[in-house]
Amino acid sequence: MSTAALKWWETAVIYQIYPRSYQDSNNDGIGDLPGITSRLDYIANLGVDAIWISPFFKSPQKDFGYDVSDYQDINPEYGTLDDFDKLLDKAHSLGLKVMIDIVPAHCSDQHSWFKQSRQSRDNVKADWFHWVDPKADGSPPTNWLSFFGGPAWSWEPRRQQYYLHNFLSSQPNLNHANPQVQEAYADIARFWFERGVDGFRLDAVHTINADSEPYKDNLANSDFVLGEMPQQQQPFFRQLHDSAQLNQPGIQAFSESFRAVADEYDDIYLMGELHGDDPIKASQTFTAPGRLHATYNFNLLQWEGLTVKEIKLAITKAISAFNGTGRLSFAFSNHDVPRSATRQMSRMGLKEDQRQALQLLLLKLESCLIGSTCVYQGEELALEDVTDIPIEKMQDPWGIEFAPVFLGRDTCRTPMVWTSNKSNGGFSKANSTWLPIDPKHLQNAALDEAAKPDSVYNQFAAFLKWRKSQPAIMSANTMSEITGSDTQIVFDRISDQQTLRCIFDFESLCVTFETVHVRESKG
Ligand code: BGC
Repeated sequence: MSTAALKWWETAVIYQIYPRSYQDSNNDGIGDLPGITSRLDYIANLGVDAIWISPFFKSPQKDFGYDVSDYQDINPEYGTLDDFDKLLDKAHSLGLKVMIDIVPAHCSDQHSWFKQSRQSRDNVKADWFHWVDPKADGSPPTNWLSFFGGPAWSWEPRRQQYYLHNFLSSQPNLNHANPQVQEAYADIARFWFERGVDGFRLDAVHTINADSEPYKDNLANSDFVLGEMPQQQQPFFRQLHDSAQLNQPGIQAFSESFRAVADEYDDIYLMGELHGDDPIKASQTFTAPGRLHATYNFNLLQWEGLTVKEIKLAITKAISAFNGTGRLSFAFSNHDVPRSATRQMSRMGLKEDQRQALQLLLLKLESCLIGSTCVYQGEELALEDVTDIPIEKMQDPWGIEFAPVFLGRDTCRTPMVWTSNKSNGGFSKANSTWLPIDPKHLQNAALDEAAKPDSVYNQFAAFLKWRKSQPAIMSANTMSEITGSDTQIVFDRISDQQTLRCIFDFESLCVTFETVHVRESKG
């Protein structure tokens, strides 16, 4: 297979930006689009291929942008559509693709669709959400629970019916069995493709609800064990979800209609975030021909971190169904889990002075796997998780619901710092920032690190440049089975031209590569 046969996204290293915490340009303590634009050189110099920006659409920010009230406008605190166009132009001029984050499963209760729908049983949007009569005893239609705690159904007195929400009650689930809803998302997609975006990360596609009634109860999860981590103790995990609450077969009508719109444009990438009882099976379903290009894999994102043995198993499981394809995307960190350096250091019993070497190893490991890779802002600096945010300063609704037992997701969402000796680390000139800045992060402020030849940032940049010259990684998506001792991960990447052995040693924290075979290029 020659390099030309692969699409950009099949080997892409994608840098995830959480816009609220990247760079503030108007001194309100909140990151924004012009702020991101001003930092694009820093991202391009790292050598990544694309950026993915978490949602910046109009939103009451109850779930920090994953509750959209207008998909075709920008939340004023993040800027304007004109600011977005400038960001896009600059990113493209630097050779970066731009992916944005669409939320198809639910919107905000402040969206005009829901405001209208909840008014009566017979308005024009009456059937855009999941409205269901109570059972004879008045209780909700099913036993479904919300990811964020409590039942997944809330009562609407005007309609005398329950509506479904898999997350907050202010995030009502759309009814994707209604063709008008799918048409609305097709219009939204075209709106952004026309502006020039190169792809979408599709949020929580397994939670799209497209089943027609009757709704089925989730079954009890007989394998449930009370994990040590508070996050694993939530009642939500005592149920099995696939085909009842989640991963319903009807969702694929949405995947297909969204893909058809993407195919009206050139070189678009659709990456669906999904989970469920059997994510591999769900990923196969979601990436069947004519559906999404790839899914975002959670195997390396375990909240409690993974041992070397568990990482081996996690990768082996993920690639089992996808070896030879670019239909999956790996990540060690994102805006929903504790930062990878902290998580993995603690799980592997490593010390603070090993943090940077470990982070570099993890970054290289994920970028040597098949498919695309998503690197979360701050991983290139080996930033630590921030676990000492006072309860009164917490922002994440999930954390607020379960604090102090469970801290939620603020710990990985604190603002980036750029220069150690500027106020708020150069993130903002405001008196205070939306989440507190961790003084520890100032030791690894981004521009300071970019100026140090041996920083994680520069070593990762050098690695990414070298990676581009390796046919085994860039021109095929095939890897051997994983071998190595208990403290090593070893595998080959294999293309027509080259077999490249990749050796990750978790004892010395060194990564080595050996070209086992170089073959004549077949042209
Ligand atoms: C996003 C979360 C969000 C949830 C609901 C996810 O999977 O990554 O940040 O809270 O979807 O939209």
